[in-house]
Amino acid sequence: MMNLKARQAFSKQAWHYDNYVDIHAEIAQRLMHSVPPKQYRQIVELGCGTGLLSQLIAKAYPLSTLTLVDFSKDMLQVCQHKLSTNENVNYQHQAIETFMLPPNTDLVLSSMCLHWVEDLAGYLARLKNMMGKGCRFHFAILTQNSLQQWRDLCLAFTGRSPTLYFPEINIFQKIFRSGQFEFQTKNVMYQSCQHFLKTLKNFGGATSCSAHQTFSIREMKTLLAAFNLTKPYMSYDIIYGDIIL
Ligand SMILES: C[S@@+](CC[C@H](N)C(=O)[O-])C[C@H]1O[C@@H](n2cnc3c(N)ncnc32)[C@H](O)[C@@H]1O
Repeated sequence: MMNLKARQAFSKQAWHYDNYVDIHAEIAQRLMHSVPPKQYRQIVELGCGTGLLSQLIAKAYPLSTLTLVDFSKDMLQVCQHKLSTNENVNYQHQAIETFMLPPNTDLVLSSMCLHWVEDLAGYLARLKNMMGKGCRFHFAILTQNSLQQWRDLCLAFTGRSPTLYFPEINIFQKIFRSGQFEFQTKNVMYQSCQHFLKTLKNFGGATSCSAHQTFSIREMKTLLAAFNLTKPYMSYDIIYGDIIL
């Protein structure tokens, strides 16, 4: 099911997004460097956002046709602005769940988007069916224990845990049995709770799930004080996947 709330949230943050997501830029770099060298002709990026990864793809493969998909019009606009001098780029304003891979797609890339897809297992099964033989799927997502420190803090000080959900690796392993997966944990220390929350909001964490519940003002005040006192680092658990059919 398409997550309208998440789409609106991403759109709202589009023009500030790059100021808060250093970690996404680093992940996009690592993902791009690990694409096995080959002349890919038809490349698709799922959830391109403001183009952190798209710019790297366009630079590495200037002769390829690049299709960028995102359900947020504003995110796509920012991306289009950055890639305005690049030819051979198509922009698709739609949910990846309804997007059909162009014929002969030989590389599908996605960075930090798939963990927001509500029925991820169903989507991956459909994606696999659309991928032709030899098509490579290369991606990075946040997994299960990401931001556990934030969950622990919320539980300890409000008795409730935030509705953040990140998928488990076995969703991918069940569908793509021959996939290769690498793991990375990044620990980030934020100057303040406000800064952490802005980052969370910008990358979609504040409305990622349709069952999302917000904290009351009183609970938020308690959380701000507890966070700023203890200054916990936040850990991001990332999976990098490389799948070839
Ligand atoms: C956290 S951003 C990551 C953007 C970019 N790949 C990066 O690394 O900075 C996630 C992006 O995925 C898009 N997105 C999330 N779910 C989507 C879906 N189901 N269909 C299309 N786009 C989606 C959002 O609009 C947003 O632009």
